[in-house]
Amino acid sequence: MAKPPLSMKPTGWFQVAWSDEIGIGDVHTMKYFGQEMVAWRSESGQLTVMNAYCEHLGAHLGFGGTVRGEVLQCPFHGWQWNQQGRNVCIPYEDRPNRGRRITTYPVVERNDSVYIWHDLDNRDPFFEVPDVFADFDGGSRAADYFPQQRLFRQSLEMHPQYVLENGVDVAHFKYVHNTPIVPVFTRHDFDGPVSYVDFTITFEGDDGQKIEDVNSGVEAINGGLGIAVTKSWGMIDNRTISAITPVDDCTSDVRFMVYIGRPNSQSTSRDPARAEVKANEFGAGVIRQFSQDIHIWAHQRYSDPPALASSEMKGFTAIREWAMKFYPDGMGGSAAALAAETAQHRNQ
Ligand code: FES
Ligand SMILES: [Fe+2]
Repeated sequence: MAKPPLSMKPTGWFQVAWSDEIGIGDVHTMKYFGQEMVAWRSESGQLTVMNAYCEHLGAHLGFGGTVRGEVLQCPFHGWQWNQQGRNVCIPYEDRPNRGRRITTYPVVERNDSVYIWHDLDNRDPFFEVPDVFADFDGGSRAADYFPQQRLFRQSLEMHPQYVLENGVDVAHFKYVHNTPIVPVFTRHDFDGPVSYVDFTITFEGDDGQKIEDVNSGVEAINGGLGIAVTKSWGMIDNRTISAITPVDDCTSDVRFMVYIGRPNSQSTSRDPARAEVKANEFGAGVIRQFSQDIHIWAHQRYSDPPALASSEMKGFTAIREWAMKFYPDGMGGSAAALAAETAQHRNQ
């Protein structure tokens, strides 16, 4: 067991499901941040994520709760709860209980995913969920890509920060992912709650080549600790999303998604079926690479202070400092300061 000395209650956006897992009228049960939760989709398509227990006598709404139009009805005594977690009907009384409210979470559905905002101090969201298409230059859209390929690993003993640190860990690419040479960073910028990490990397050729001659790379955007999106260039066009969500104080769920670009109309798209098979193979390869990381992370112990090589010092120090912004105050973090800083930035 390797319980990390880092809070498992960071502030930010975290993936809790995929949109297509929760159809109209579905009630989906899950556990994140130590809370039993339900996600339910109303008749109009609106998705709500809330704590799972009915405020009346504590029935779990995920076991027998039913969607009635725009509200969720408890299986125990029929009380109805709306999308703000308010009681709107007690079927055997004249009026609802206006005082009690089930905790709900801000929800965003983007890139086929369901994200919730988690903040121990109940601040409203103060940054955006990154978008794997819109946030990169080039104006590409989901329609330019084959359907998302996915990996889902549940309840691993790992912390979201491990994945974040992986992006600045150049040496691991050679040993974990078998790149012929060690990549180099070309950008490492922080903008409040968002960080940008770009690097030049190749998976081809041998160890005789020079990184300066390589013409391919990856751009990554981290939106807080929970979500990273990447875009590749100079190789098969792929976009990825990695999303790590704490389940309790020791474990996290890991979701990883890959989109492979469709061949454009001018290129060799004569055989679309073959293009799709190729894309699926390539996507499976990208997922395999991420699984190699998971194999390390799921058994890793957080090393603090780490024994860094001098070439690693700058990147790791910067990313670890940045990560602290998302942990609750009083646990070594400074989420309140980040919220204030972001608000100030917006008002300028
Ligand atoms: S416990 Fe939910 S209505 Fe009674
Ligand atoms: Fe990696």
